[in-house]
Amino acid sequence: MARPKVLATRPLFPAAQKILNANCDVDYWTQPERISKEELFRRAADKDALVCLLTERVDAELLQAAPKLRIAANVAVGFDNINLADCTKRGVAATNTPGVLDETTADFAWTLLMAVARRLGEGEQLARSGNWKGWDLDQLVGADVWGKTLGLVGFGRIGRAVARRATGFEMKVIYYDALRAPLDVEHEFHVEYRDLNSLLAEADFISVHVPLLPETRALFNVARLSQMKPTAFLINTSRGPVVDEAALVDALEKKKIAGAALDVFEKEPQIPAGLKRPNVVLAPHIASASLETRTKMACMAAENVVALFKGQRPPNLLNPDVWKAS
Ligand code: DGY
Repeated sequence: MARPKVLATRPLFPAAQKILNANCDVDYWTQPERISKEELFRRAADKDALVCLLTERVDAELLQAAPKLRIAANVAVGFDNINLADCTKRGVAATNTPGVLDETTADFAWTLLMAVARRLGEGEQLARSGNWKGWDLDQLVGADVWGKTLGLVGFGRIGRAVARRATGFEMKVIYYDALRAPLDVEHEFHVEYRDLNSLLAEADFISVHVPLLPETRALFNVARLSQMKPTAFLINTSRGPVVDEAALVDALEKKKIAGAALDVFEKEPQIPAGLKRPNVVLAPHIASASLETRTKMACMAAENVVALFKGQRPPNLLNPDVWKAS
């Protein structure tokens, strides 16, 4: 059988290249700029598989341009860039990379939380500016983290990894999830369940860990942001559209909340000017960006592709109906 033809929209990492190259003929997009839609469609036209990023849309239009495609392997756990129904309709398997980025993403949620609470961004700027006049009693005073209440919105793998890290800070951890966790899990992670309204009113730090779904789009809207304490901070490492950015800017302007730390945005890479303020920490969607984790994610995507062409069910298949039908 001829080796499958694969388009990878990034060079990936050596370990992932090794997996793919041993089994497939791979066309790697190696230009520094992102692949354009036209180029993606052109190169995908004769490919059996696509290894893609969350910045590429996999939908009916792409699938029509790539009639031989059998799998779209996303190098991300979130897959809101993939239209699963379109993939299933055309018999294309779609896969993601769950599990391998939980701890790294949780580390970064904490990085953001600490940075916004302790005003690290402002402190760093001052330290580099040449204008620092030395220690002062009320200089850049922030908020304590230890002993406070952490509210997790979303209590899946990443939310739990964030909860585990709170123990060392002697925090009370409360969570909301559409599906309440079993009691033994709540005990294991030392967390208490709250309905969303109660969590919003009680937490000093709210960290968001939900996927982007119709129900979670603009979950943090004017009304919900108004329910937060004026001393509370919002941290988002999930997906930008979960927070209504205009509502967030308004809440910050009116001092309805104390600050925010954001790794994700509604229309990446655009960041509204209203969010570029001292009490907002901004990061360019890098929560999972450690070399170890990004390598694991790329390898996982490669393994999903290779499995399919070996006649095996891809380990991270998102649309099992495709497999049942094959
Ligand atoms: C994901 O995997 O969905 C992240 O947003 C990128 O790591």
